[in-house]
Amino acid sequence: MVPPGAWLGLLGGGQLGRMFCMAAQSLGYKVVVLDPGATGPAASVADRHIASDYLDARGLAELAALASAATTEFENVPAAALDYLAKTARVTPAAASVAIAQDRISEKMFLSGHGFAVGPFAVLRSEADVDAVDARLLPGIVKSARLGYDGKGQSGVETLDEVRAALRAMRGQPCVLEQRIALACEVSVIVARNEQGETAAWPVAENRHRDGILDVAIVPARVCDAIARKAHAIATRVAELLAYCGVLCVEMFVAQDGALLVNEIAPRPHNSGHFSIDACVTSQFEQQARVLAGLPLGDTRQHTPAVMVNLLGDIWFAGDATAPREPAWYEVLRHPSAKLHLYGKAQPRRARKMGHVTCLGATQEEALETALAIKRALGIPR
Ligand SMILES: Nc1ncnc2c1ncn2[C@@H]1O[C@H](COP(=O)(O)OP(=O)(O)O)[C@@H](O)[C@H]1O
Ligand SMILES: [Mg+2]
Repeated sequence: MVPPGAWLGLLGGGQLGRMFCMAAQSLGYKVVVLDPGATGPAASVADRHIASDYLDARGLAELAALASAATTEFENVPAAALDYLAKTARVTPAAASVAIAQDRISEKMFLSGHGFAVGPFAVLRSEADVDAVDARLLPGIVKSARLGYDGKGQSGVETLDEVRAALRAMRGQPCVLEQRIALACEVSVIVARNEQGETAAWPVAENRHRDGILDVAIVPARVCDAIARKAHAIATRVAELLAYCGVLCVEMFVAQDGALLVNEIAPRPHNSGHFSIDACVTSQFEQQARVLAGLPLGDTRQHTPAVMVNLLGDIWFAGDATAPREPAWYEVLRHPSAKLHLYGKAQPRRARKMGHVTCLGATQEEALETALAIKRALGIPR
C-alpha cells in the first residue's frame, strides 16, 4: 500500500484529473500532474505540475522520481508513457487494458468476441469496404475508430454514398459504421476493480445526451430491476475480462425492443459518474486513488437520489451574446441541495465542458425538479 502522504502521479490535465487531485489530496496524498498545457483544470490544483509532452523523457523521469504510483485521466495517453512509468511505479490501469478502449474496432471485437450484445456494425478501413456494407445498417452513424469524444469524429449517414463521403471526410482513418439504434434510453455503470480482483459498482445512471454530449444523468436510473442487474453484470464482467485495475465506465443503450447493448467502454472515471462525489459514500475519484494506492475499496452505496446537469460553455453565450458572460450562478447556489462544480477553465467555448451541478433530493422527483429549475434559469434546453 502507498500510504497517505506519498506522491501520486497523474497523466492528463483536464477536469477528470482535477477531481482526482482533489479526492487524492483529501486522503492526504500529494499529486504531481504531467500535462503539456501551461495551465489547466488539474494543473491549477496539483501539488506539482510538469508541463511536458506525455512522451517527453525528461518529464516522465521527473514524474517517476517523485511518484510511487501513477494513473491517467484519459484513454488517449500514449501506452508507451504508461509502460515507461510501470518500470519504477505502480501504474493503474495497465496500458494493455486501456489500449482496447482506445480503438472502437478493437473494443467492438473484444465485446462481441466475449459474447456481449452490441448493435449491428461494420468495420470500414477503405472505400472498398463500403461496397460490402449491408444496407440494413442504414440509417447509421460513421465513427472514427480512434480519438473521438463527445460526439466528435461522428457523422450521421442515410445512404451508402453518404457513408463514402463520411469516410473521405475522415481522411482515410479506419472507421466503424453503426446502425442507428432506436433508443428507449441510455445507461451507464461505473465499476472499480482492484489488484485482488474485488469489484464495486455504483448504481446505474440514466444518461440523456444532446448533440452527442451528456446533458443530464439521473441516478438511480429509471429502469426495471432486470435491466439494472444485467447492466451491473456486464460492467463487472468487462472489468474482469480486461483484468482491469482502476475505475471504468461501460456505456449502454436500452433499445426500444428491450435489448441492452454495450455502446462503449471508458477506461477511467466518467462524466456520468460525477454524481458519486455528492450522492455516494465513496466517489469515483476517491476510488481511483484508493485502487491506485492499493487501499481497500470504498463503499459505492448511494445515500441520496441525484440528478447531474452538465454545464457547457454554451451558457456563457446565452441570448446569442458574442462575448462570453459569466452565468447567473446565484440561480444554482440559491438551491440548498444543488452542488456546483466548476473546472476552472479560462476559455468558455460552445460544447466545452465547463462544470456540472449535482442536484440532490429527498426523492428523485425533488432532485429532478431542482435540475429542471436550474436548467431553465441558466438557459440550458430541456
Ligand atoms: N448507434 C447509435 N444509435 C443511436 N444513438 C447513438 C449511436 N451511437 C451513438 N449514439 C448517440 O451519440 C452519443 C455519443 O456516441 P458515443 O459512441 O458514445 O461517442 P462518444 O465517444 O462521443 O461518447 C451516444 O451516447 C448516443 O446518444
Ligand atoms: Mg460515449
